[in-house]
Amino acid sequence: MNAKVLGLGRALPNRAVENIELEGVVETSDAWIRERTGIERRHLSTGETTTDLATEAARRALEDSGLAPEDLDLIIVATMTPDYFMPATACLVQKNIGAHRAACFDLSAACSGFVYGLSVAHHFIRSGGSQNVLVIGAETLSRSVDWTDRTTCVIFADGAGAMVLGASTDEGVIRCTLGARGDDQNILSTKAPGLQNFLLAGKPLEDDPGPYMKMDGQTVFRFSTKIVGESIRETLKGTGYSLGDLDWVVPHQANTRIVDYAASRLKLDRSKFFMNVQTTGNTSAASIPIALAEMKEKDVLHSGDLVMLTGFGGGLTWGSALIRF
Ligand code: COA
Repeated sequence: MNAKVLGLGRALPNRAVENIELEGVVETSDAWIRERTGIERRHLSTGETTTDLATEAARRALEDSGLAPEDLDLIIVATMTPDYFMPATACLVQKNIGAHRAACFDLSAACSGFVYGLSVAHHFIRSGGSQNVLVIGAETLSRSVDWTDRTTCVIFADGAGAMVLGASTDEGVIRCTLGARGDDQNILSTKAPGLQNFLLAGKPLEDDPGPYMKMDGQTVFRFSTKIVGESIRETLKGTGYSLGDLDWVVPHQANTRIVDYAASRLKLDRSKFFMNVQTTGNTSAASIPIALAEMKEKDVLHSGDLVMLTGFGGGLTWGSALIRF
């Protein structure tokens, strides 16, 4: 059986924050943020938790799918900002939506998390282990950034997106490929408050990395512009499809300049890349399903479209998925 996309949903916090409002928080400017990232505004939580946003996106995706909560047999939440280490966000969502039959776990692969979760769902359905799977990407990154660090706090944001997949004989998820390079773990990281130092030394060390996200922006930029093209080409291999067959590429919404470079390296029409980072900011694992749900709402994503999803981020990790909608 194939994993067919049955429904999509998204949830953003009500509070939209314009670039200009950040000028009062760190030394930055609307012009700098627009030029270097493409971002114009983002949504930031005013108390909504990762679970709240994940639950709302899940409800909308379920409604869109026509399935009942008890039809789900697996819930995967991709997040790097879970509300708790334990229980998993997926368990909290299960309770909120009443999906009592579903097994639940969270998955940590940073901004590639949604594609990793989708790949797991695809393999569960193909193997017959699951019939209907809910995959959610959800983040409250405003809790994770250092609001005195202008190199990160102007980029990241909050939100959730969800996808319901069901077993089908129709073409659905065609191929997923994933990758990681742990050697580059420090390029983009959020180290829990001294956890590893505490384990090693029995007590916190002086060079405790602190609780906030840290990013070497230029290295991430170079990595991302290269890996997007490589990952897309790798995923098309052996499928019988080529770049020219794609109706859409939906990349992780990190930065418009990364996508401009990737599109020109691939020699692929830039208008095939859907972008909404301008209004959402970078919502990490949530960004791809938020984009897909927005495309469906705007009626630009149609049944039968051939779509490539591609994610990249901390770990370093990356992954792409070729899907017939
Ligand atoms: N506002 C204003 N100026 C800023 C700034 C901000 N928010 N952040 C950094 N600057 C300054 C720097 O201090 C530097 O000043 P200097 O020239 O006086 O030293 C200048 O802008 C250029 O900094 P630099 O780091 O070279 O900028 P950049 O062109 O590399 O752009 C990023 C920075 C972060 C936008 C860019 O590296 C990038 O997009 N990286 C990828 C980030 C990403 O997508 N991460 C998520 C991946 S999942």
